[in-house]
This record gives sequence, C-alpha cells and structure tokens, in this order.
Amino acid sequence: MSKHISVWNDEINIKQFPSLDTDAKTDVLIIGGGIAGILTAYELSQRGVECTLIEKNRILQGVTCNTTAKITSQHGLIYNKIVSSKGAEAAKLYYKANQEAIEKYRALAQEIDCDFEIKDNYVYTTDFEAKIHKEAEALNKSGIPFDFTDKTELPIKVLGAIKFSNQAQFNPLKLLAPLSESLNIYENTFALNVKNNSIITEKATIKAKKIVVATHFPFINRHGNYSMKLYQDRSYVIALKNAQKLNGMYINEDEKGLSFRGYNDYLLLGGGSHRTGKSGGGWSELRETAKRIYPESSEEFYWATQDCMSLDGIMYSGNYSAMTPDLYVSSGFNKWGMTSSMVSAGIIADLITDGKSEYQELFSPSRNMITPQLAVNSVESIVNLLTPTTKRCSHLGCALKWNKAEHSWDCPCHGSRFDESGEVLNNPAQKDI
Ligand code: FES
Repeated sequence: MSKHISVWNDEINIKQFPSLDTDAKTDVLIIGGGIAGILTAYELSQRGVECTLIEKNRILQGVTCNTTAKITSQHGLIYNKIVSSKGAEAAKLYYKANQEAIEKYRALAQEIDCDFEIKDNYVYTTDFEAKIHKEAEALNKSGIPFDFTDKTELPIKVLGAIKFSNQAQFNPLKLLAPLSESLNIYENTFALNVKNNSIITEKATIKAKKIVVATHFPFINRHGNYSMKLYQDRSYVIALKNAQKLNGMYINEDEKGLSFRGYNDYLLLGGGSHRTGKSGGGWSELRETAKRIYPESSEEFYWATQDCMSLDGIMYSGNYSAMTPDLYVSSGFNKWGMTSSMVSAGIIADLITDGKSEYQELFSPSRNMITPQLAVNSVESIVNLLTPTTKRCSHLGCALKWNKAEHSWDCPCHGSRFDESGEVLNNPAQKDI
C-alpha cells in the first residue's frame, strides 16, 4: 500500500514555532512560510535586516514539500518564449539569474546536508520535434550553452532533447528546515488583511516598514490584479521502487508530459497535470505509464501539488503593484519554484536593501500582460461566475467542481480548493465554505 505523502515529508522533523498573540513591530514582515518566504527571510537576515515571518499554519507545507525538487535554469521551453517576446538579451538575463540561484544552492549545500547532487537536466519531446529545434535556435541566439541529443537513458523513444549541464537536485526540506531554525518565525498566525504598513492577524497587529507577500497565490485582491494574472495548475507524482536508476533529470514539454528524477532508491515520476478545477490525467495516468515502462516497479508514495502559473511563463517578483512601494510579492513560479524562489529572494532583498535589482524589470509584476493566456483566464472567470450551482468559492464566487480523485471542491477560476467539509485546502480563498 503506497503512502499518500511526499518522500520529503516522510523523512523530516520540522521545528515548531510559536504563534504571535500580541502586537509587534518589525522592519520587514514576510507573509508565508513556504520556500519563497523562508529564502527571502534568510537572504534579508544574512544582510542584517530585521525580519519577521508569519505563517497561517505550519511552515514548509504546501508546494514546498510536494515538489520534485529540481534546481535548474532550464524551465521547459522558456527561452524561445522570452526571445520571441522580449529579445535575446532578456533571455540571457533570465539564464544568468537562475544560474546564480543554482550557485547559491550549491554554497548552502556545502553547509547543510540536503542530498544535493549535480545533475544534467533534459527537456525532451516525443511527438513534436520542431519546438525543441526552436528552443535550440533561441538558446543559440542568446549565447546560452546547451547540448542537443535524440538519445537519452529513458525507456521511451525521444525525438529530441536539450540538455543543460551542471544543474542540480536536492531534498528541499533537509535544506529549509535547518535554515528556518535561526529565523524569527511565528506559525499559526493568519494574516487577514494589510492596511498601509499594518498587517492585521487574528490576534494582533504587526507594523512593518516593508511587507513581502509570499503566500503561494497573493492574497490581497485590491492591488496588482493577480486574479487575472495567475491561474493554478495541478500535477501529480508517484515514487517508484525497482524502476530505474537515473543519471539525469527529465521533463517532457508535450501535452500529457512526464517528469523524471531519481531520489535514493526511488524514481519520482510526475505528470497528469491540468488546470485546477478541470479534469486531467492525475495519478491514474502515471500509474498506467509506470505499468507500461517499469513493469517490475512498485509504488511507495504518491502526492499532488499545485502551481501558480503566470501569463507569460515568467514569475512575478518585485513590488506588488506600481502603486505599492513598500509591498512586495513573490509568486507565479510556473512549476519551477525551487530555482525561481531563490532568484526572487535575491531580487526582493536587493529592492529592500539597495532600492534596485538588475532583474527587476524582467520579473516585474507590473510588466505588460497582454497575452493569449489573459483571454483564457478572463473567459474561465466569466463562465464559472455565471455557472449556476450552490457550491461557490469563497474567493470571488466562482462555481466549484468536485474532484473525484482527491475528494475536494476545486475552483477553475484561480485554483482555490476546499475539502469535503468545506475547509480551505489551497488559497487564494481565505475563508471556508
Ligand atoms: Fe478565485 Fe475561486 S479561486 S473565485
């Protein structure tokens, strides 16, 4: 019987922190105790900035413990997208920011044992070779090093793959749990609202000069228009024993694409993804694949995760909106949260301590957002707001859909989820239904 928990969560004890019950003051307040919040707090505290982090539940839950934990600057086929929309210089900058993030992880892993391993990363296709060639062209134009191959160690026929060397994989909780121990953290402290420089929680008010929202989906609706700028995508992982010992990390960018990486004796097979609130492959698609390509394997763990997807494939890191100089956001990692959250921690720390970052324009949450995905998100919101049903989302009122595989009520608009009793599982919803 496989366990419904991620491999990372099975192995680790995370220190418990107190809740904040009285009013407080801090220079920087970070809301959200996932990887983005913890790394930002760590980066700021390394620079001598007084910093407090609050988390609604326990730290390092959610996406942070349900990832496949690849650290790479190769985010699917992002470079062709960036070169087409913003030019080769922007692509080069994206690569540089992410390579620096890999180096920061490498340095941390020298201090903390977190099963960090240098690996090659591959993005491959099994059915549409042209898009891999376009990505290769974009990389050439941008002067980014890569190799092209049509041979991999995977037991499937690959038409083409792009390899980035010297990328990495790790166990995120083994790194972040010790890192968090020296930080000023309050758990079970729920931020209800932000008014100017005051954060109102259930039991206290915190005054802060700067506020960073790292709550997975940004929860403040009145600024930044994140309800239009983000949607969420659900994806699934199974951990197999007796499958295959892999040297590289792999991701398939086709529809129904799969993700592969090894961890100790396990092979982590990911995929089955779909927009939250829509039907998709789920674990059953992965189990069928496992049966076909690894017939001797046994499933030991299974879990799901949920990612915020931006409109143009680039994360949002910087000022929450053009009108909020003291409010920052870190979100929209497009399934590449390990590397992106490290990049984002650096950008936000630079903005807070120096007032500028060389990456602020590229990742600015206020950049031009007229993209085809904006139209898709708008249609989805209108259709689901107008759908008549009694189960409605407590975020902005869209019709909820029953998720048979996970026994939850899921919202196709912005991805909130609720359990059978109506309790919030995933934000942006703040209230139960
Ligand atoms: Fe926004 Fe449901 S998540 S309406």
